[in-house]
Amino acid sequence: MPPKVPRRTSLRHAAKAVHNPIPFLTENIKNFGKAYSFHIGGVRKGILTTDPEMIQHILQKNNRNYRKSRMQTEILGHYVGKGLLTSEGAFWLRQRRLIQPAFHRSKLNGLVGIVQEEIEKFFSANWKNGGRRELYTDMHHLAFRVVARSLFSTALDDAEILDLSKQISAIQSFVVKRIRQPYLHYWLHLNGQMRHHDRVSASVRQTILDVIRKRKDSGAESNDLLSLLLSVRYEDTGEPMSEEQILDESLILFTAGHETTAVALSWTFYLLAKHPQYLEMIREETPSGGFTSLEEVMRMQMTTQVIEESMRIYPPAWLIDRLSNSDDAVGNFSYPKDTFFIIWIYGLHNDPDLWPHPEVFDPGRFDPALKKARKPFSYIPFGAGPRLCIGHQFAMMEMIQAVAHVATNYNYELIDHDVGLRPLVTLRPKSTVPITVSDLR
Ligand code: HEM
Repeated sequence: MPPKVPRRTSLRHAAKAVHNPIPFLTENIKNFGKAYSFHIGGVRKGILTTDPEMIQHILQKNNRNYRKSRMQTEILGHYVGKGLLTSEGAFWLRQRRLIQPAFHRSKLNGLVGIVQEEIEKFFSANWKNGGRRELYTDMHHLAFRVVARSLFSTALDDAEILDLSKQISAIQSFVVKRIRQPYLHYWLHLNGQMRHHDRVSASVRQTILDVIRKRKDSGAESNDLLSLLLSVRYEDTGEPMSEEQILDESLILFTAGHETTAVALSWTFYLLAKHPQYLEMIREETPSGGFTSLEEVMRMQMTTQVIEESMRIYPPAWLIDRLSNSDDAVGNFSYPKDTFFIIWIYGLHNDPDLWPHPEVFDPGRFDPALKKARKPFSYIPFGAGPRLCIGHQFAMMEMIQAVAHVATNYNYELIDHDVGLRPLVTLRPKSTVPITVSDLR
């Protein structure tokens, strides 16, 4: 087993680390190495790793021997259903094969216009010359609207989207509470919180089911993800997905697709405000008439590098978990069945051995010419292996479009220059990141 952090140290850290465990996890890496065993929260035994080889082994080379924890499959699954994010094994693989083509470049190309329209609409309605805004709050609304429109086009009006966003956020916060404070389980039953959130979840599901049924009944073709989900057929049976399955997958795309993107955009704009020379470069490479194709979006080289570097310093999915299905070994270590792993993406992306001066924002690190020299599995903001984020290209496309739009239309300044970390399921900024906005022209 990897070196062990004494239990009393884990317990001491657990009490202090409720709001931000990152300083303690970093200290442990310095003292015990890139992989160490410890008692998570002072209680549950596990291995934390930032070792690229071990990560590659778990996520890719021997991925079949690893499963997700019940936090994702059972607790999150209870609210969002059984689909891509929350299932395992043969069921997951069948869904992944079915849905993957919906995220193919050719299909994303068809979404560039919808995404662009939504971005333009959002900023022109909300960012006014001389106004004060909150980056995180805005990016949250924007990312939710972009997913909603990409999934359902105009089937939901603005008020319905806002309602859905509030309900899904309430469910996500409740899931975080259940995961972080498992000892509250019976209390949450007793005080009616469990029932309340079950009702919220039922209401969300009904809203989405109504959209699916209406679309099916109308037989209308649309250029959105729902149309793709309705049209795909399983390879083995030739059958389409059931209504219930389309509902689960839609809810999962909402859940997985908006908070992560919102966090990444918030940090990117925060870093750009501190390094405005890059805003200038982004302005220069943005086509004057906006984007009409995915190819144009993907040609935005400096913008891509800025976003990549932002997700290196602040990876939205700052950790992922796995459990071993049977005894296994990698490098000098061997461990038994059911060992719990934390793949600590934040630690990996900020490891000075892999990223010299990791605290320095330097998009030049992602110059395509340097990519080959990078150690494999030293940069995994979207995960890796067969369970790589299915929305990674969609997310990059959306973020590039949003960053280019802001750079070419606004100037903005941070009100607070030092924003701390708030690591929940995603690595959120501690504040809402207030800014003042002015028009560029
Ligand atoms: C910056 C934005 C995003 C980040 C950083 C991100 C990150 C991740 C990561 C790390 C995983 C792997 C989790 C694991 O292995 O345990 C994942 C999976 C997933 N993501 Fe994303 N994601 C982003 C955006 C999106 C978007 C926009 C969508 C959909 C529209 C999406 C849908 C999914 C789904 C469905 C999975 C599960 C895939 C599977 O297991 O087959 N994500 N994401």
